[in-house]
Amino acid sequence: MKKFFSVENLDVSIDGVQIVSDLNLEVRKGSISVLMGSNGSGKSTFAKTIMGDSQCKILKGRIIYEDKIINKLSPDRRAQNGLFLAFQNPIEIPGVNIGVFLHSAYKARFKKEISIFEFIKDLRVIARSIGIKTSIFERNVNEGFSGGEKKKMQLLEAIVFKPQFSIFDEIDSGVDIDSLDIIVKKINEMKKEGLSFLIITHSTRVMSKLDIDTINIIKDGHIVKTGGVELISVIEKEGFKHV
Ligand SMILES: Nc1ncnc2c1ncn2[C@@H]1O[C@H](COP(=O)(O)OP(=O)(O)OP(=O)(O)O)[C@@H](O)[C@H]1O
Ligand SMILES: [Mg+2]
Repeated sequence: MKKFFSVENLDVSIDGVQIVSDLNLEVRKGSISVLMGSNGSGKSTFAKTIMGDSQCKILKGRIIYEDKIINKLSPDRRAQNGLFLAFQNPIEIPGVNIGVFLHSAYKARFKKEISIFEFIKDLRVIARSIGIKTSIFERNVNEGFSGGEKKKMQLLEAIVFKPQFSIFDEIDSGVDIDSLDIIVKKINEMKKEGLSFLIITHSTRVMSKLDIDTINIIKDGHIVKTGGVELISVIEKEGFKHV
């Protein structure tokens, strides 16, 4: 059977320090996988490696997406092929209006002409549905956005661009409870449309509401346990010490 996304025996270093070690993980098409582990266990490094961040040097192993090894693919090509990473700390781009930025990205992704006026009109509808103030589209990319606004903007990008495989690195951090529930609901809806997700989170609230297929626990850059939702209560009770 065709493999949707898998990582095999991956070793990654940053500035000569090995952070990911013999990591194996698989995400099936149309599923939600969770990656959890202590601070500094290598979750964000792993996510950035999947997207082709040049800081993250692959020493060994393979990243396979839709049956192709993508280790050497540029970040742009990965995005064009349907991979998307919502960063733990989204960057600000001063001087670049968010509406114009998303409009250009949309035209590039779908090779479709749409006027910026029509595009922003659609964006406003999506923004309202996830509790983003529509006045935000008059501002520059992430500049001065609150923590929660940045995170919700990443969800909006996933809704607009419909990437085949989205990785959300702590989409929940700094997000209020009501907004958190909206985010989870949207991700569950996108899963029903056949899209696939790797969710990095520390929040058991998020996990209890997400329609999760698999949970992976990472320790020192290595997956030490893979299982189902039963792992949530184990971690809640005992932390990561005994995993
Ligand atoms: N540029 C770098 N140079 C050296 N070490 C780094 C660099 N970037 C990350 N690290 C180290 O790699 C380890 C893994 O970091 P990473 O950000 O992947 O952890 P994480 O699991 O995402 O943690 P958190 O839950 O806190 O977000 C940490 O010890 C971190 O300090
Ligand atoms: Mg992190």
